[in-house]
Amino acid sequence: MTRPVETPLVQTLPATVPFVGPEAIERRRAQIFKARIGANESVFGPSPRVLQVLRDASAEAWMYGDPESYELREALAAGIGCAREAVVIGEGIDALLGYAVRLYVGAGDHVVTSDGAYPTFNYHVAGYGGSLIKVPYRDDKEDIEGLLAAAEASKAKMIYLSNPDNPMGSWHEASVIEDMIARLPFGCMLLLDEAYVEFAPDGAVPNLSLDDPRVIRMRTFSKAYGMAGLRVGYAYGEGQVIRGFEKIRNHFGMNRLSQAAALAAINDPAWLDDIRRLVAASCSRIGQIARDNGFSPLPSATNFVTMDCGADAGFARAVLQALEDRDVFVRMPFAAPGNRCIRITAAPDGEIDRFAEALPGAIKAAKAIG
Ligand SMILES: Cc1ncc(COP(=O)(O)O)c(C=O)c1O
Repeated sequence: MTRPVETPLVQTLPATVPFVGPEAIERRRAQIFKARIGANESVFGPSPRVLQVLRDASAEAWMYGDPESYELREALAAGIGCAREAVVIGEGIDALLGYAVRLYVGAGDHVVTSDGAYPTFNYHVAGYGGSLIKVPYRDDKEDIEGLLAAAEASKAKMIYLSNPDNPMGSWHEASVIEDMIARLPFGCMLLLDEAYVEFAPDGAVPNLSLDDPRVIRMRTFSKAYGMAGLRVGYAYGEGQVIRGFEKIRNHFGMNRLSQAAALAAINDPAWLDDIRRLVAASCSRIGQIARDNGFSPLPSATNFVTMDCGADAGFARAVLQALEDRDVFVRMPFAAPGNRCIRITAAPDGEIDRFAEALPGAIKAAKAIG
């Protein structure tokens, strides 16, 4: 019997996942979380209209989904004000990031991101043999000047930026992003991840030309629309760039129910407005809980609040662990200086009550270790 041989590139990769899911932690602990407020899902759930469509469409599950996602792309394009051909649907931004990297990043190509930014992007870059250059956050924001300088110096093919940003919840004004694009080094493109765009203040959403092939924007139904488990994201940009995805994407990857659900979600704008209000109220409550416990909440343009625990990464990790011990699932930024913080997702009052009850004991336990 012979053992199949992985490609030389794959042999160099560690067998890791970008994130350990809360389910894996629950299995390890043999205990279900009482508050799942760590993955920036929308704990408020999807719109009742989406739930109805899912029920109605479930009997059609025997059919493949439309590989062109025609109706969904039509609806998204109408909202954006572009042609359907300028939009591609994928299995969440996560999959689209992989496609974009596969399209543009070959072995040895340099790519620039922020140190501690969304790690699934890094995972794909490693998977296609790209070389990652990481620029530290500055004042808890992605450092635009630093990203541009690193791209220039390394002749990078791509910069990844999320605006608003995960894990710090920060954002840049539209004019800053527009200026950044005007100053992209020769041969470099911007992957603009707008997973949290529905929560962003108006002034943070740039008005970008769809004729510029150097920018791809990505959005998702996982956050504001409360459909993370359905895996629907989309990318849009210049027509030829978006057509490139047709060469490599998983054409039948978008399942039928998810497409129908996303369409229903778009057609329920009142629900989205409600979610924005609920999220804003929850974020301000989380901020107050942070202050009540001596922590400092950072400003957020997302559905989560990142709070400075006032000490080092070891202390933040101990608080996180102590919350986990109290059946509350939260996460924390991976890299310094953000890793002095923990990150809490907005949620209905029940979950936030559990966090508020657990936090004082968790801080005490963390202090006892230190
Ligand atoms: C910045 C950012 N991009 C992308 C994603 C994942 O999006 P999707 O669920 O569409 O794959 C997340 C989820 O946490 C995120 O924070």
